Amino acid sequence: MDEYVDMFGLSPADLKREILGCADGPASFNAGMNMRGLRVVSVDPIYSLTTAQIGRRIEETFPVMMEQLEMNLDAYVWTGISSPDALAELRRSSMEQFLADFPKGKEEGRYLPGNLGSLPFGDGTFDLALCSHLLFLYSGELSVDFHRQAVAETLRVAAEIRIFPLQTLAGQESPHLEAVCAHIAETGRRFEIKEVDYEFQRGANRMLRAW
Ligand SMILES: C[S@@+](CC[C@H](N)C(=O)[O-])C[C@H]1O[C@@H](n2cnc3c(N)ncnc32)[C@H](O)[C@@H]1O
Repeated sequence: MDEYVDMFGLSPADLKREILGCADGPASFNAGMNMRGLRVVSVDPIYSLTTAQIGRRIEETFPVMMEQLEMNLDAYVWTGISSPDALAELRRSSMEQFLADFPKGKEEGRYLPGNLGSLPFGDGTFDLALCSHLLFLYSGELSVDFHRQAVAETLRVAAEIRIFPLQTLAGQESPHLEAVCAHIAETGRRFEIKEVDYEFQRGANRMLRAW
């Protein structure tokens, strides 16, 4: 949960807003907020799977993720997180917190299956939408049209969106950033690019905020 607070520069007042977590996957932000009596609704296609299926998927992808990271140690800043072992422990405990919370959270409507291109909510349902480690990061896999549609759709259901990071997996600023910002402005919204107090992937310490 603390990572989300830093990545998105969330203030205590922000945490009390109606929050939509976009593409939250197996992150523990929703569970952590719920433990503090604060409600987040998370939306991700993987929430159509059962807890056991998501658990199996994590077991399959986790070693691959760690292996790739160990081959690229210089691409990360090892200060807040001191070593790959510390990272593995942090990620494991976060995923376990998510898996423990998922069945109850699904019943309570806090985890909903859904796609950023077409969200299952009415206009203006949320105050704030957060999206980490999908848009911009996967610019090679997700087209600029998908990015434009996802941001427009999110701004339909939420008054404000924050997206982190603005870099691709290769560590370069996303080639879609300029077009997305232009699209936000064309649709009469405002935006800013803000430095945040979080940097794990080297150089990835900025978020896009639009409202
Ligand atoms: C790398 S994970 C990031 C998880 C979390 N936000 C974090 O920062 O730890 C990317 C997530 O995006 C989700 N995803 C992929 N395509 C999506 C889409 N079209 N709409 C919403 N979520 C999507 C995946 O299922 C996955 O859980």
